[in-house]
Amino acid sequence: MKIAILSNGNGNYSTKRLVEEAKKRGHEVRVIKYRDCYASIEKNNPTVSYRGVDLSGYDAIIPRIASNMTRYGTAIVRQLEMQGLYTVSSSIAITRSRDKLRSLQLLAKAGVGIPKTIVSRNSTDIDSLLEKLGDMPVIIKLARGTHGNGVVLAETKKAAKSVLQAFYLTNEDGTNILLQEFVKESAGTDIRAFVVGGRVVASMKRQSLDDDFRSNLHKGGEGTVIKLTDEEKKMVIKAAKAMGLNVAGVDFMRSARGPLILEVNSSPGFGIEKVTGRNVAAPIIEYVEINAKRRNKKDKVGA
Ligand SMILES: Nc1ncnc2c1ncn2[C@@H]1O[C@H](COP(=O)(O)OP(=O)(O)O)[C@@H](O)[C@H]1O
Ligand SMILES: [Mg+2]
Repeated sequence: MKIAILSNGNGNYSTKRLVEEAKKRGHEVRVIKYRDCYASIEKNNPTVSYRGVDLSGYDAIIPRIASNMTRYGTAIVRQLEMQGLYTVSSSIAITRSRDKLRSLQLLAKAGVGIPKTIVSRNSTDIDSLLEKLGDMPVIIKLARGTHGNGVVLAETKKAAKSVLQAFYLTNEDGTNILLQEFVKESAGTDIRAFVVGGRVVASMKRQSLDDDFRSNLHKGGEGTVIKLTDEEKKMVIKAAKAMGLNVAGVDFMRSARGPLILEVNSSPGFGIEKVTGRNVAAPIIEYVEINAKRRNKKDKVGA
């Protein structure tokens, strides 16, 4: 098969691993810097070119879109979808995953456990909103934050109020702001489950090293192997499905009322391989092999 990996960093570990596994399985694979692609929008003839070459000859694409390039990256993926190319992650699923509010709405609707969350646009009602969430502290987060930036722990009502006011002021028409119950049972820890095609292929616990409440590896968190319970496995698989993602990094926290999902990542990093010793690149290539063939065959018979 001819596989295109849409990634801006071909020196990146995840990209390298995908290339390695695709080659090992006999595929022709190329890393396409989607930042340098252009789309030509024309009646009945959508095309995407990269360095003067039309991308329509690929059998499958694996998007690895960076969060700060979501708009452009998903526009390129969407255009390729419109040409009928098979993509392991759809543009709409990637877009959903980049908005925590939109994701939580979908997850809640699917019956997946999430921390109690409120979204509002002004702070006049703050006391009653905080009451709905229960005890202090509370978490305040930007719907489009990443790497732990944009997540604040407010210890008191006064702090919550002033943080919210500051956020509203600087975000008049921008990103939504979420008020969230603080999951105290496992503060400073969360679990990343790597899901491929409805199967958990690796899982790790992330623990903040200092007294930070955020366990992001980018914030100095440390990963260790962890085994998921059957309930947790079912929940993370359901979460990936609700988001429409075939490849997903599902992050959750353990709580007294079961697993609570924080977010679902559409381009999960492969650093989890180093922590767990599990191969996550191979299952992705295998998934692409089966599904791209199935899709392309189906298209030929017009089903
Ligand atoms: N409701 C919460 N209760 C306790 N800790 C939280 C909560 N939400 C986030 N955290 C901590 O903050 C980290 C970052 O939050 P997250 O929602 O995943 O945003 P980001 O996209 O920036 O990673 C999480 O990994 C977790 O450790
Ligand atoms: Mg996170």
